[in-house]
Amino acid sequence: MHEVLRLIVAVGLIWAAAFPVHAADKAEETVEIDLLRLLHQDCGSCHGMTLKGGLGPALLSDSLAAYEDEDLFSIIRDGREETAMPPWRDILSDNQINELIGILRGKTAAADPGENK
Ligand code: HEC
Repeated sequence: MHEVLRLIVAVGLIWAAAFPVHAADKAEETVEIDLLRLLHQDCGSCHGMTLKGGLGPALLSDSLAAYEDEDLFSIIRDGREETAMPPWRDILSDNQINELIGILRGKTAAADPGENK
């Protein structure tokens, strides 16, 4: 009898690992989290983990205030030629770039909740 119970538990665990519940429900949330991670880790590798600047300039909302959304869009999509700023068009969809711009517009130096990510 114990053998059977153990088997059921084992199958259950494998099932749970293979098919995480609610994965589909969280699709939207996942996009946001991935973009935040990308922002702080990939963009952050040049612009600073807290986006306050490094090799590239700061990406906080104040620093980008002079840019229109369209300007930011083409900078991020196409990069800046002759500089280290790479194009992201092969990695990010237009929608993701727009979403990223929305996130950047909300980034302030004070108590950035993304700082510890
Ligand atoms: C390999 C380094 C590197 C990475 C990675 C990188 N950037 Fe840049 N970025 C730069 C540099 C350097 C500049 C300044 C280019 C110049 O001198 O005009 C820049 C400029 C910018 C600017 C214009 C800022 C301004 O004040 O003119 C924006 C917006 C920007 N990057 C966004 C991003 C985003 C969003 C990501 C991630 C998706 C990213 N960058 C990833 C190096 C990088």
